[in-house]
Amino acid sequence: MRMKPSRNFLLGLCSMLVLGFLYYSSARISLRGYSSLYDKQGFLRKLDSSLPLELMYKYGNLSEGSCKPGFAAAKMTAIYPKFTKLVPMFLDPNYKRFSKIGDFSPPFGVKSQENIIHTLLSATKSYGLGEELDSMNCKTCIIVGNGGILSNKSLGQRIDDFDVVVRLNEAPVTGFEKDVGSKTTMRITYPEGAIQSIERYEAQSLFVLSAFKALDFKWLRDMIFNQKLHSTNGFWKSVARHVPRDPSEMRILNPYFIQEASFKLIGLPHNNGQMGRGNIPTLGSVAITMALHNCDEVAVAGFGYNISTPNAPLHYYENIRMSAIKESWTHNISKEKEFLVKLVKAGVIQDWTNGICGAGC
Ligand SMILES: *[C@@H]1O[C@H](CO)[C@@H](O)[C@H](O)[C@H]1NC(C)=O
Ligand SMILES: *[C@@H]1O[C@H](CO)[C@@H](O)[C@H](O)[C@H]1NC(C)=O
Ligand SMILES: *[C@@H]1O[C@H](CO)[C@@H](O)[C@H](O)[C@H]1NC(C)=O
Ligand SMILES: *[C@@H]1O[C@H](CO)[C@@H](O)[C@H](O)[C@H]1NC(C)=O
Repeated sequence: MRMKPSRNFLLGLCSMLVLGFLYYSSARISLRGYSSLYDKQGFLRKLDSSLPLELMYKYGNLSEGSCKPGFAAAKMTAIYPKFTKLVPMFLDPNYKRFSKIGDFSPPFGVKSQENIIHTLLSATKSYGLGEELDSMNCKTCIIVGNGGILSNKSLGQRIDDFDVVVRLNEAPVTGFEKDVGSKTTMRITYPEGAIQSIERYEAQSLFVLSAFKALDFKWLRDMIFNQKLHSTNGFWKSVARHVPRDPSEMRILNPYFIQEASFKLIGLPHNNGQMGRGNIPTLGSVAITMALHNCDEVAVAGFGYNISTPNAPLHYYENIRMSAIKESWTHNISKEKEFLVKLVKAGVIQDWTNGICGAGC
């Protein structure tokens, strides 16, 4: 008889412990559930190219091949909720409204470059893609990488069908039209990568500087004002000495894309916001990041290296082989590939030469 209260007490204690344990573990499970939904960069872990319901409603009815307004950003937001679309392609006189680039030195921002940027922008006086493209309510863009994988696929015609064709550095067009197309809306480059012979510049394209160091802005000033290059010290290889473009055809790529690609999307070391080992994204990833913010549909071609085919050509325009690829101090190709694979897997971007995923994705 006298045992009963203490038995009840024990029972009560027991069930409280059980409840407490259940509560504790369910909290842990749901916490873990959240972090297992998203990876360290903030991308959904489980990626496939199916459309979320609300996007299906919006885009499902459009006829095959028609441009889908806002598609790339919407799909990106579905797999990466931190994405905010509105970041202009190029610097314009109001660039300071994006505080995010004011706190970092090049390549991640514009800190202490304000005066020279003011000079450059006052000379170019143009800050968009041009009236026709700027006024389109749906733009398709393709970033043409330099990979040998473009060879002999006869994609030229289909590349030219895009509204905006972005080329990188000195990748040539003349002589390769059948595979890489002939249209160039813009060529994004840094001084060491710029075309050096004047004849090889195609007419009617924007010359876009992606500045990786303070010196690159000084170089652009010499190019815009058609001056003799002040100095070649500080470049890591020889640079173009003349760019046959009117100032109104020159632009400065918004450095936010380098910052976002490096620190957020790819997850390279922050290194106190300074350039350091393995934290500079390749120009290809920077261009893709720009397109995600500014194009309604985004495709790529000529991206991806296949190290298991050492004799395949590295670039479509020269005879260097894949095996020549060097361990890079600045880039982290494998981390970068993880990012690109996510975009392809989720259908945010279309890979026309299938070099990013290769056989499996
Ligand atoms: C898509 O088509 C279905 C069936 O024809 C229609 O009920 C629906 O309203 C359409 N959605 C949009 C966004 O037009
Ligand atoms: C492309 O085709 C040409 C001519 O047929 C050939 O010489 C070349 O090796 C091919 N390139 C690649 C990468 O397959
Ligand atoms: C690339 O990133 C991986 C994973 O974070 C790291 O182990 C590797 O050292 C990095 N490589 C370079 C060149 O920084
Ligand atoms: C690389 O090339 C090999 C041999 O052609 C092929 O089996 C493999 O699937 C390719 N890998 C990728 C990622 O493209």
